[in-house]
Amino acid sequence: MVGNGAWTQVRTLIIAVVATLVIFGLAVIVAGIGRRTDMAHPDEPVDALAASTDDCVTCHREESPGIVEQYTYSAMAAGDVSCRDCHEVPKDYPAAVAHEGTFVLGRPSTARCQECHESQVAQFNASRHGLPAFVAYAGAQDLSADHLAMYEAIPEGSFSASKARNQLYELEGPAITKFACETCHNIGRPHEDGSVGQCQDCHMRHSFSLEQARKPETCNACHIGPDHPQWEIYQESPHGIAYATDGDNWNWEAEPGTLTAVDLPAATCSTCHISGFGTTGGSHDVGERLTWYLFAPQSSRRPDWEANMTRMQGVCISCHNENFIETFYADADAATGAVNDWVAESDEIKATLVAQDLLSPAPFDETFDFVHFNLWHHWGRTAKFGAWMQGADYVQWHGAYEVLHDLVHLEEIAAELSEGTTE
Ligand code: HEC
Ligand code: HEC
Ligand code: HEC
Ligand code: HEC
Ligand code: HEC
Ligand code: HEC
Ligand code: HEC
Ligand code: HEC
Repeated sequence: MVGNGAWTQVRTLIIAVVATLVIFGLAVIVAGIGRRTDMAHPDEPVDALAASTDDCVTCHREESPGIVEQYTYSAMAAGDVSCRDCHEVPKDYPAAVAHEGTFVLGRPSTARCQECHESQVAQFNASRHGLPAFVAYAGAQDLSADHLAMYEAIPEGSFSASKARNQLYELEGPAITKFACETCHNIGRPHEDGSVGQCQDCHMRHSFSLEQARKPETCNACHIGPDHPQWEIYQESPHGIAYATDGDNWNWEAEPGTLTAVDLPAATCSTCHISGFGTTGGSHDVGERLTWYLFAPQSSRRPDWEANMTRMQGVCISCHNENFIETFYADADAATGAVNDWVAESDEIKATLVAQDLLSPAPFDETFDFVHFNLWHHWGRTAKFGAWMQGADYVQWHGAYEVLHDLVHLEEIAAELSEGTTE
């Protein structure tokens, strides 16, 4: 017989053994779950700067932890690119500021990126995202000789109604335009060191993530609103709806150049305009796939439009058949022509009034000027963009219908001016 005290000891021992087994079992299960989670996310971001002793990192972890936190998980941090690679410059470098015993750029220029990403910078420089975007508001008159030569060498770049400072920009004045034109068009502003543009307008510092750049919201910082509603049109399109309803499941981080319809089953802005996809190689020259100058009042063909068309269609045919795409192009060309005809009509009304001295040629000083501008700049463009990017409501109610309405309005104003009933 075991005594009472001994029984208590045995019972305690049994409880201890069982408890140990239970805890050990739970630990095994939890570890298993942990492993399963790891397997579901094989690409868990790596905290690349965790052990860094670089004083840029250690001090900024205290002073601006958000910046270090964003950068540490980036592909560039994993690739041993340091804060200094982008920021640190010699003392006499243009725009260098003294900082903690060295010299840095507060906003690294494209010249910094160029040291490692030469082709992306060259393509960007050859596009309308480069100097043409800046000239669109500031004019070409203050460009340095080098920048003027660079601007004029861009094949599709110097196509513009005017290389003079933009008249609306002048009219509104710097208190407004700093927050308006410049916010979007400085994507192509020149730097003190001679390089051009802001890569960070699409590549958010300091994460520089492919997923972020590839998602269409990145473009809507600028491609939005009544005059270029590409974002709104995209949301209405079958591609945009696929993105909105299923995009969470897409493979956004696929290596550049390897993207297929398995990764991204419907097109995004980046698929059609930038990424390597189908038979078409990736490029930061966003003009390389376009056939028309759609932003112009009356659209004309681009210099290299046939080669450009082959590149764009090389993207479409990953997901559509060739016949479908050829028919689509013929139809969208016809829609572009129809809008051209309406804008030509409005231009004739204007030219007649100016010739008769009934309208001053100065811009934006009479109601006529605003209605005429709305007609092509908002509704005409929108109808064309809607047709090319599958936004029916923008072709119709924010496009063609408004064009027709404004044409009637212009004719009414013209009649009043002829009768002398308005000034
Ligand atoms: C001892 C702390 C410390 C060290 C070391 C340090 N920084 Fe800073 N840094 C700061 C602080 C604080 C500011 C904010 C200064 C301010 O607000 O005026 C700053 C600002 C900056 C800025 C913005 C400058 C501007 O003009 O906008 C950059 C870029 C920068 N640091 C990069 C670096 C780099 C690159 C290194 C390593 C070469 C570095 N920092 C080392 C503390 C530090
Ligand atoms: C791949 C290039 C690159 C690397 C690497 C990089 N930066 Fe930057 N950094 C930039 C760019 C571009 C900007 C300007 C962003 C803008 O236009 O607002 C910037 C801006 C800054 C600023 C000023 C921004 C502000 O909002 O105050 C600080 C401070 C800074 N970086 C610190 C760092 C530190 C610290 C590291 C390393 C942990 C680092 N950067 C690594 C490119 C880089
Ligand atoms: C010192 C060299 C160096 C500099 C300077 C540099 N990069 Fe990088 N960049 C790299 C390396 C290395 C990678 C990683 C390539 C890889 O993983 O295949 C990279 C990758 C990238 C990526 C792709 C990220 C991804 O998730 O795959 C982007 C976007 C990028 N850099 C943008 C920039 C921009 C913008 C600048 C200038 C502000 C810049 N880089 C400056 C070396 C550099
Ligand atoms: C919300 C961003 C944004 C703002 C603000 C903005 N633009 Fe634009 N602008 C664009 C985009 C995007 C395009 C390209 C449209 C296209 O290609 O379809 C463009 C096109 C243009 C064009 C035609 C292209 C060219 O180079 O001839 C001119 C001119 C222009 N903008 C001038 C201005 C002026 C002047 C202002 C201020 C009064 C201004 N923009 C404000 C984003 C903007
Ligand atoms: C209009 C937006 C935009 C601008 C501006 C931009 N990028 Fe990109 N970038 C992208 C997109 C989108 C991708 C992803 C391309 C893909 O799917 O392969 C990308 C990818 C990259 C990559 C990864 C490799 C590759 O080519 O796909 C690098 C490196 C890069 N960009 C560097 C730069 C540099 C340097 C600049 C400034 C000269 C810049 N980018 C300006 C949108 C932009
Ligand atoms: C910071 C503002 C900004 C962002 C962000 C931006 N763009 Fe642009 N984009 C512009 C401006 C401004 C123009 C017009 C430049 C001009 O013609 O004067 C333009 C023009 C274009 C054009 C027409 C080029 C031509 O040759 O006429 C395409 C296509 C384009 N952008 C695609 C994109 C895509 C795709 C994205 C997102 C990945 C994007 N943009 C992000 C400002 C921006
Ligand atoms: C399914 C492919 C596709 C998608 C998705 C797409 N685009 Fe387009 N985009 C086109 C085509 C095609 C054209 C007209 C090309 C031509 O002129 O031949 C065009 C024209 C443009 C233009 C007009 C350039 C000019 O001449 O004025 C801009 C700017 C633009 N797209 C930006 C965007 C932005 C921003 C997004 C995302 C919000 C987007 N696109 C989504 C295919 C696409
Ligand atoms: C990555 C795949 C992919 C690419 C690339 C792509 N599309 Fe699409 N497209 C789709 C999907 C998915 C739909 C939706 C079909 C549906 O609604 O059943 C669609 C629908 C369309 C529609 C509407 C069809 C209809 O019946 O209403 C048109 C037009 C279209 N795409 C044109 C284009 C053009 C032009 C290009 C190239 C500039 C292009 N697409 C590139 C996947 C793609």
